[in-house]
Amino acid sequence: MPHIVAPSLLAADFANLQRDVEMVNQSKAPWFHIDVMDGVFVPNISFGFPLIKAIAKHAKKPLDVHLMIVQPERYITEFKNVGAHILTVHYEASTHLHRTFQNIKEAGMKTGVALNPHTPVSVLEDILPDTDLVCMMSVNPGFGGQKFIENTYKKMAQLRQMIKDKGCHTLIEIDGGVDMKNYKKLLLYGADVLVAGNTVFSSENPLKTIETLMK
Ligand code: DX5
Ligand code: ZN
Repeated sequence: MPHIVAPSLLAADFANLQRDVEMVNQSKAPWFHIDVMDGVFVPNISFGFPLIKAIAKHAKKPLDVHLMIVQPERYITEFKNVGAHILTVHYEASTHLHRTFQNIKEAGMKTGVALNPHTPVSVLEDILPDTDLVCMMSVNPGFGGQKFIENTYKKMAQLRQMIKDKGCHTLIEIDGGVDMKNYKKLLLYGADVLVAGNTVFSSENPLKTIETLMK
């Protein structure tokens, strides 16, 4: 399967959001990545339902919504209603992950679980068959524009092996610090989805940058 690039709108110009959403519509990127932060699970606050609803109105591609919030299970229906297609919750924020996945699926969305840099891949042993996507955080969540953590490659190799052993079709998503220097190596290590915020939106020619990342 060809890989996916998911531009993270956290790095977009919020005063020109429609323009940036249209840019992604016209680009080769198959998904949008949307980062929701609550100021509790992570030290930053990003945006909530009204903004996602506004994005969904213009977006012509699936919204991959990454929840960096405590008790994400409280808001599954709301995220569906504002237009989420994939709903990713953090392993570290979920006491009943299996039930949360059931509820996400019942609401008609794909499931994702995100792992912080310190969380070992082994915790996914019993939940992997129930998820469509694993979002491997390659920075500490909360901010865009941070430096890629090199230990991610080791974790990717472990996850790739686990997916193979179990015969799953789970997508591996890499989130944080993806740039023009490391994206090829990430693909070699088996990344299916590359999230890219600053690399896309701070570049001189975002359309061209996305095209390169899709190669
Ligand atoms: C970080 C977010 C990322 C972020 C990536 O907490 O989950 O999606 O937007 O930004 P870059 O690509 O700039 O590291
Ligand atoms: Zn994210």
